[in-house]
Amino acid sequence: MRTYHRTKCRACDGPLRLVLDLGHSPLANSLSATPEEARALPWYPLRMCYCTSCWMVQLDVAIPSEELFSHYVYETPAAASLHLHYEHLIETIASVYERVSGSDVGPKRCVEMGSNNGEFLVAMRNRWDIPLLGIEPARNIVDIASKRGVPTVCEFFGLDTVDELISTFGTTDLFVARHCMAHLDDLRGTLCAIAKILDEDGVAVIENAYVMNTLRGGQFDQIYHEHHSYFAVRPMKRLLEECGLHLRYAATSPIHGGTVVLFASKKPGDTVHDSVARALLDEGMMPRELEAFAFRAKTCIAGLQRGLTGLGTIDSYGATAKGNTLMNVLTGAKSLVRYAVDSTPSKQGLFLPGTGIEVISEERAREERPDAYLLTAWNYAEEIAAKNREFTDRGGKFVVPLPFPRLA
Ligand code: TMP
Ligand code: ZN
Repeated sequence: MRTYHRTKCRACDGPLRLVLDLGHSPLANSLSATPEEARALPWYPLRMCYCTSCWMVQLDVAIPSEELFSHYVYETPAAASLHLHYEHLIETIASVYERVSGSDVGPKRCVEMGSNNGEFLVAMRNRWDIPLLGIEPARNIVDIASKRGVPTVCEFFGLDTVDELISTFGTTDLFVARHCMAHLDDLRGTLCAIAKILDEDGVAVIENAYVMNTLRGGQFDQIYHEHHSYFAVRPMKRLLEECGLHLRYAATSPIHGGTVVLFASKKPGDTVHDSVARALLDEGMMPRELEAFAFRAKTCIAGLQRGLTGLGTIDSYGATAKGNTLMNVLTGAKSLVRYAVDSTPSKQGLFLPGTGIEVISEERAREERPDAYLLTAWNYAEEIAAKNREFTDRGGKFVVPLPFPRLA
């Protein structure tokens, strides 16, 4: 796989400074067919840096997006907490859209990039009876979306493809990019492509993990090669403007450990919501938060390393990308952890990158209970605890790894 080393910020060409060096790691989503294959994968440097000019937090070693995402095992789970989040997000879209366009009947179309298996577009369809289009680069995931009746094209969205997409499908007044911007090396190009496909009254909705939560929660496991950037409002406001988009509202949500949803319009607005000023004020703490984060991450890793021995048999819960970062920074995780439990059928029977740990279903997990689960899918803690009540009632434990390892 091709990698290259960035010495300048992907948003503004400013200088990069190292925040946290996690050594080397294999690609966190490259689940393999055999344990041998999983353990023989190449490992790449994993270093979180930040730009001292615009404060965009980012990795300095990059792997081209096309090589990361043409086949993908991540499928958006049909989790109840996600559906609640979608409902709230859709109502916020309705309100911002009304403010920007002056129309209270909602958007006329919706295009979503990185639409995965179509979960969010299905929620959109339940709210508005409008034409929808998903743009998703992974062929295997597009097939799943198409089978569910969600119109989806197999394509990378960006400057190279936007003109063809416009000539085939037209422009749109609502463009959604949820949890995919972090995956792009060419952020600027993608934002310019969004500005191009949007109508004059159009609104872009960009959701990502919020770096302030990542830092304050010591979430070092969010660092993996698929995540090129870690978003804050300050650098994004400036970059959006340079690409012809105007930030109007910045919502935050506790989902997935904390996300920020940026609402940007194509036409400059005369009103910018207070949420933007509040976020900018809070982000003034960022340089200090970065330092505290590096300390928190290192002590958490050391604590886990010592604390996991002596707990008996341990399985991890959630064959997540972040779980792979976590296990690959520990020494000897492959002998500490027996299985990884995950509800996603396409992950089951595969082996985790680096450790070679087998992924098993939740049904099988109920037959082969460990003494403790390392909760690598901590963002679904409540749902996972609820469906495993019988395990904890009998004395089984969950190890919640972040921000400080603890038993639950
Ligand atoms: P994510 O944090 O990257 O979204 O991944 C969460 C993983 O957790 C996903 O692979 C599915 C898995 N999962 C379960 O195994 N059981 C569950 O109840 C839920 C909600 C998720
Ligand atoms: Zn920068």
